[in-house]
Amino acid sequence: MGDCSQFAVAPPATHRVWADDAASFSTYRIAALHHNMHEHPLFQMHELAKLAKELVPFSQCRFMRHDVTPASKIAHDALHPDGRSIDECFERIEELNAWLALYNIEVIPRYQALLGDIVDTMRAQIEREQPGIFRVNGFVFITVPPSVTPFHIDRENNLWLQLHGRKTLNVWDHRDRSIVPAEAVEDFIVTHSLRKVRFKEEFRPLSHEFNAHPGDGVYFPSTSPHMTNSDTAWTSPGDRVSISIGVTFYTSATRKAARIHQANRVLRRCGLSPAYPGDSPALDGLKAPVGRLVGAARASIVSRIGPAARFKLATAPPPGSY
Ligand SMILES: [Fe+2]
Repeated sequence: MGDCSQFAVAPPATHRVWADDAASFSTYRIAALHHNMHEHPLFQMHELAKLAKELVPFSQCRFMRHDVTPASKIAHDALHPDGRSIDECFERIEELNAWLALYNIEVIPRYQALLGDIVDTMRAQIEREQPGIFRVNGFVFITVPPSVTPFHIDRENNLWLQLHGRKTLNVWDHRDRSIVPAEAVEDFIVTHSLRKVRFKEEFRPLSHEFNAHPGDGVYFPSTSPHMTNSDTAWTSPGDRVSISIGVTFYTSATRKAARIHQANRVLRRCGLSPAYPGDSPALDGLKAPVGRLVGAARASIVSRIGPAARFKLATAPPPGSY
């Protein structure tokens, strides 16, 4: 018998993510998703507890603060405020109202592979508009309601999936400059500062609100403002935990937009009001190569600053690279 393996078609993924409306899915618009990743063995609570312990040496198991509102700064610590161990946090999670975030889970190889598999289930639809997916990262949020993730933006595109319990996600269109002004996005892309990204209650009706259950998900593009919350009314004793995951990734398009922001920053410093990325394809084509050089220069400065500052930036992308 001949070897037919080279002609074999890969079987469909058992665990996958899909867009509700696959035909009209666009990487530039917020979209409802569904998935069955909550049934994956690596996303069960005992496996997440194991993962959390493996992330401690990297300071990537973070304890979120409870006194936050949508308008708060995002704040978290590497140590539990009362000195509890990870084991205790997971064993008594409901009683302790533990609130953990597992950052950059891709540093653990089996999760890196899983994140790649998740993105692969959407790869064809993503790359038809934004080729060149790179730097796939994962963030798991384990909370006992009530919880709030403050209003913010991220650099990456995001496949946000609800794994356990309920959570509400509010997302705003990334092109709406009345929610986050151009200069605030630029500041964040170039310097990582969210100082000018500010929530106002009047923004709330302008958001897309998703009341997510396990199996629900949302795709949102890079720099879409978003926040989450969960409520004790949705829980019952023994079933009080809410778990969601953000699978984030960059593409050739997010990298080009970052470079244009870099160039715009220089132009703004010269007193000009530069066109936002995407508003003028012709200008974008001129600005992107300039922004690439500006970003590389910034990255070089960052690499030469002190070890303490470098440590702080260890998990953050170098300015202007993506
Ligand atoms: Fe986020």
